[in-house]
Amino acid sequence: MHRITFAPNFADWQPLAREALRSQLPPDAVVWEERDAPATDLPFESEPTPAPAPERPVARVPKQFLDLAKTVSLHRAGTRWSLLYRVLWRLTRGEPKLLEVVTDPDVARLHAMAKSIRRDIHKMRAFVRFREVTTPAGAWFVAWFEPEHRIVEANAPFFLDRFAAMRWSILTPEICAHWDLRALTFTPGMSKSDAPSEDATEDLWRTYYGSIFNPARLKPHAMRAEMPKKYWKNLPEAALIPTLLAEAPRRTESMIDASDLQSTPPPAHTLAMPPETDRLEVLAEAAAGCRACPLYAKATQTVFGQGARDAAIVFVGEQPGDQEDRQGEPFVGPAGKLFDRALAAAGIARETTYVTNTVKHFKWEPRGKRRLHQTPSARDVASCRPWLEAELRVLQPQLVVALGSTAAKALLGSQFRVTQQRGEIFQSEFSDRVLATVHPSSLLRLPAGVEAAAEFERFVADLRTARQQVNSG
Ligand code: URA
Repeated sequence: MHRITFAPNFADWQPLAREALRSQLPPDAVVWEERDAPATDLPFESEPTPAPAPERPVARVPKQFLDLAKTVSLHRAGTRWSLLYRVLWRLTRGEPKLLEVVTDPDVARLHAMAKSIRRDIHKMRAFVRFREVTTPAGAWFVAWFEPEHRIVEANAPFFLDRFAAMRWSILTPEICAHWDLRALTFTPGMSKSDAPSEDATEDLWRTYYGSIFNPARLKPHAMRAEMPKKYWKNLPEAALIPTLLAEAPRRTESMIDASDLQSTPPPAHTLAMPPETDRLEVLAEAAAGCRACPLYAKATQTVFGQGARDAAIVFVGEQPGDQEDRQGEPFVGPAGKLFDRALAAAGIARETTYVTNTVKHFKWEPRGKRRLHQTPSARDVASCRPWLEAELRVLQPQLVVALGSTAAKALLGSQFRVTQQRGEIFQSEFSDRVLATVHPSSLLRLPAGVEAAAEFERFVADLRTARQQVNSG
């Protein structure tokens, strides 16, 4: 028996597994022992590393396995390393298509573990609640979370991305993640008593949750599925749930009589929480009740994306305008009409595409009797981003086209400049292929001296590039 000791992470395990393969160590001859794990009492012949590798090339490992292994390495079960090595062994020893055999017990177990990790990652994103504490450095936002698996390091970049502008710490029993506006660091785990539990933000959040709770839409079953009871204890709003459930019938009546919710001040920005689903209509339904940022309060409705489920191209605009807000559909106002003309000129049938926006509520300020468009802030975009991510995850288009700077920055980073980089293909975490062009509304208000026909033609040329991209596969 060979005992291989390693730090329990994929980066440490992978070269040792490769070495073990080269040394032709069959799976049942290896014990994978996590450093700091309790010692086993199996008999060992050699340690700590396998015998020197003879010159035997190791067969290529499919990328799908590497992706799966990276995910599964975050699982808490100690057996994951031996399972991974067994699958690796089989893949490189005459079963190169093993991962396609979903009924194989090893493969099924791998997929089940990966699914459990993905769920845990989603739950952490959805249920982490920051509480503000005052420190000598300024405001610091602290959250307590108890993940099922070892997902904190893998998930930290997500929170960094969303909350780059504030100092935060996520405390967990095993490891803590911190962002101080300069560096992302990790320290050993803490106990729950180290996390602040009550504060003013929490009261505000409760008031907010109580006020947006719409008894007419109450679906306790779905509620429990989306917000499993085990997470309730860390959520300030959860304390309200029993009372709200009990009061639901009475409150439905009073809502019908007269809306008592209008005067509640909107809360600070949080993150939208799309349900885990591959159905766009379920996403749209959930987005209709989204209160993650204050924009909903002044908008008529959420304007979710619309279009073909099998769209090869997804167009992403900025946010709904006045007409879209009234009609509940994206790009149906003046900019939408121009967009339709440009699509037709480029030979793209709109109904074969999917059209959505970076921010799903209309942001505006009053100007006399008119509602004047306001550009969404980075925080508006960040709050709404989970909806766009969810749409793209479901649609998996061949190409995403950003219309204008807000969409381009959301998809390609804040340094992106449409004026300099329009019409080119970029890779982003949202999609392998993203092309950015101008927003159609910019063609409706061109500065004096700029030739409208020529600018329209440039826009159409970018759309043609998009069409050629998906035609060429
Ligand atoms: N502008 C946008 O960005 N989106 C719309 O839906 C309408 C106008």
